[in-house]
Formats: sequence, C-alpha cells, structure tokens
Amino acid sequence: MAAAAASCRRPLVWFFSLAAALFFASWYLLLDSTAAPPALAARGRGLRFGSSGRKCDPAAAMLRVFMYDLPPEFHFGLLDWKPRGGGVWPDVRGGDVPEYPGGLNLQHSIEYWLTLDLLASEQGAPTPCGAVRVRDAASADVVFVPFFASLSFNRHSKVVPPARASEDRALQRKLVEYLAARPEWRRFGGRDHVVLAHHPNGMLDARYKFWPCVFVLCDFGRYPPSVANLDKDIIAPYRHVVTNFVNDSAGYDDRPTLLYFQGAIYRKDGGFIRQELYYLLKDEKNVHFSFGSVVGNGIEQATQGMRASKFCLNIAGDTPSSNRLFDSIVSHCVPIIISDEIELPFEDVLDYSKFCVIVRGVDAVKKGFLMNLIKGISRENWTRMWNKLKEVEGHFEYQYPSQNDDAAQMIWKAIARKVPSIRLKANRLHRFSRFGTNRTDETPTRSSWLENQAR
Ligand SMILES: *[C@@H]1O[C@H](CO)[C@@H](O)[C@H](O)[C@H]1NC(C)=O
Ligand SMILES: *[C@@H]1O[C@H](CO)[C@@H](O)[C@H](O)[C@H]1NC(C)=O
Ligand SMILES: *[C@@H]1O[C@H](CO)[C@@H](O)[C@H](O)[C@H]1NC(C)=O
Repeated sequence: MAAAAASCRRPLVWFFSLAAALFFASWYLLLDSTAAPPALAARGRGLRFGSSGRKCDPAAAMLRVFMYDLPPEFHFGLLDWKPRGGGVWPDVRGGDVPEYPGGLNLQHSIEYWLTLDLLASEQGAPTPCGAVRVRDAASADVVFVPFFASLSFNRHSKVVPPARASEDRALQRKLVEYLAARPEWRRFGGRDHVVLAHHPNGMLDARYKFWPCVFVLCDFGRYPPSVANLDKDIIAPYRHVVTNFVNDSAGYDDRPTLLYFQGAIYRKDGGFIRQELYYLLKDEKNVHFSFGSVVGNGIEQATQGMRASKFCLNIAGDTPSSNRLFDSIVSHCVPIIISDEIELPFEDVLDYSKFCVIVRGVDAVKKGFLMNLIKGISRENWTRMWNKLKEVEGHFEYQYPSQNDDAAQMIWKAIARKVPSIRLKANRLHRFSRFGTNRTDETPTRSSWLENQAR
C-alpha cells in the first residue's frame, strides 16, 4: 500500500494525460480500471489537476450542497492533516489530499470520499459534478455536516474501555452546540441537514439530537425508528476490504467451493443464526465455513476464498449489515443474504434479487433448506447473477476522484431523491412562522427505549 502510494507521488509530465484519459473514459473502461487495491483509491496525493480543472456549475448540478466550514478537528484533522494558511480544507487539486488509513478502518470511510468530492466540485478538481458545493445556504438543496463520525469513533473511542471515550463524546457535544447556533440549522430545525454516521457506534450520543436530519448509515440496527428510518435516511455501502477481481474470467467451473463463509462465531442479538448454520453446514461437501477475523493475513485469505467460491454467505452478526456483502460483490461470489433486518444500499434503484439470493432466517435454519436451495440454482442462473455482479460492482466503489455512478455519486443521487420530502417538511414547518416560532427545539416521539439509550 505504501509502495503503491509512493509510486503515485512522482509528478510525471505524461501522467496528467493518462489520468485525464481514465477520468473521461466510459463506465466499462472504468470498471476495468478498478484494478487498484483498496488503499490505492485514496491516491489523491501527487496527482496534479490544477490548471485543467473546471469548477462545477451549480445551476447544472443535480444537488446543490451547503457545507459548513467546520474546524479541521471534526474532519481531516482526525487524519492528522494540518491546515496550511488560513483555510480549514485541504487543496484537493494536488498534493495536499490527506491519506486515509487502510485496513478495517476503511469500511466506514464514506465521510472521507463524500467530503473530498464536494471539495473537488468547488476547487475544480475532477468530479462528475453530481453534487456541487454552494456558499449560499438559501440556494442549497441540503446542508452537509462534514463531521467524520466513524473516524472519530475509531480514533478516540477504542483506545480505552469503556467504549465511549471522552474525546469522541466531546466532539459530538461541540458539534451539537455549533449547529444549534447556526441560522442554517434553525431555518428548518435541521431537516435539510445530511449527517454521516456509517459506523454503527458513530455519533452515539448526538444521534438522538439529529433525528430530524437525513442520516447516511450502514443499517438501522442501533437506531430507534423515531430517530432513523428508511423514509428519511439513506443506506450506504461499506467500503469493501478485499481487492477488486479485475478481468474475472473465473466462471462456474473455476470456482470449486460451492459456499463460503468466514467470520466471527460469537455474536449477540440476531447473530445466533451463525451458530445454527455452522452445525448445519460444517460437514457438507464443498462448503467452507470457518470462524476467524478478516484482519491482516485474513484479508488475503478471504480474497482467495471468495474468488474460488460460487456463493458467499452473509449472515447477520452483531449488526444486520457488514462489509462482507460488499466483499462478496467485488469478488463476484453470488451473495446469499441471511439477515432479516438488513437494509440494502440504493434498493430503490437496484433489484438485489438479480444478483443475490436473500433467505429468511427461519427458513435458513431448517435442516437441508439452504443446501437444497443452492444446489438447485442452475449453472445458467448462477452465471446470470455472476454477470450482473460485474455490472453493478461499480456502484459500490468509493474512490477519489469520484467517477460516474460510483458509490459517492449513488449516495448524492439518493440524497437528491429525498429533496422533495425535505421541502415538504420544511414548508410545513413554516406554516406558522409568522407567529414567531419555527419549533426547532422539538424532540422525537417519546419512547422509553430511546430514553434508556440516550443515557
Ligand atoms: C485486464 O485486462 C486488460 C485488457 O486485456 C489488461 O490491459 C489489464 O492489464 C488486465 N488487468 C489485470 C489486473 O489483469
Ligand atoms: C432460473 O431462473 C428463472 C428465472 O428467474 C427461474 O424461473 C428458474 O426457475 C430458475 N431455474 C433454476 C434451476 O434455478
Ligand atoms: C423562522 O424561519 C423564517 C424563514 O427562514 C425566518 O425568517 C424567521 O425569522 C424564523 N423565525 C424564528 C423565530 O426563528
């Protein structure tokens, strides 16, 4: 990873023309270019786009975004980036793009990719210009809160038990105070605000204050419905941790393992199903079912294992979703999803039944059910799903610079689809504004569960 990043740092004269060719190439060429291993996607460093840069035209954008100039401690400062000169943002046209740590941290890195893309839209760095940063909140469709909540949790909270260390909580408290004082928040009580909390434990305290906002989450497992739900919020993919399977010609006969699962066995809540399935499947032929983490050497093993398998199991863990689904997708290993509470990214535009097999938990634990189902899927039908996986994988790819219809652009589009309902709520809120109250200090529906969580 370090070597790969270093090789990008050489400002070769011809590099720009090569880069430009790639950026403007078609989507299919783009899929081919996903050869890069995960951390290479963060290759902003060393690229020089400066002079060629065209800034995005807000009038032509799908989504106009007002973004707060939060101090760096809320965003790139968490990556040890220091401002040069007066600004709070890196110059994303050149050598100042902060690098994101690799490994499992990457799986919740959406905040990083979305913020970089917004900065690119304003600074004239390459971007499809789907979302464009505007300086005037009155002309914005949404207000983006650039707090890297997942990173804050990972950097601060894991250091000392108990899990919620004080720095992360302090940042959340500061954010709530900052927003409460802003006219952009008070305007609609935050209903037009986009808040990123992809890590299930990110924004652990502040989430209860942000219930009017549009959350971007991995699932709703740790949110009460009054705080987050499918009507107002958006489910975003995890950043996969295995490497992309470029030029995959490993079809049906080249994948000797029928069914593959690797993960932790001990799981609370819905995860009991893992144990049940283990006992059902452990003696089956051509089934790989093993318990172990995917850190370090495990990533390489999982990469090879998934590429050698026809189907990959995704079983509910201590949260309904996990990066494993996205690892299966980029390995073109047809996902078998057993997680009744899972929500799938962009399901309003993607039909997952075309490239996944989704099984109810109660069925999956019936003796023989799963194996019969899988063995009954014909080679033709498997191949159709395999081809579909190769077609859709680009929608789950986070990268900088962002490309047409990749994960960042899919998220902007999903946010754009929420804009009419945000407007409805905002206008309803203003019905009585002439009487001097915009009701910005409401609380969500009372719930004892919620109150216990908030303690
Ligand atoms: C994929 O195929 C293309 C075209 O044949 C080739 O140029 C490229 O090097 C291949 N990439 C990998 C990683 O094999
Ligand atoms: C293959 O897919 C078609 C269409 O989805 C379905 O009707 C058929 O039953 C499937 N056959 C097998 C053997 O999986
Ligand atoms: C309510 O919102 C309107 C529109 O933004 C604004 O003009 C008005 O001052 C607000 N009222 C209060 C009490 O904040």
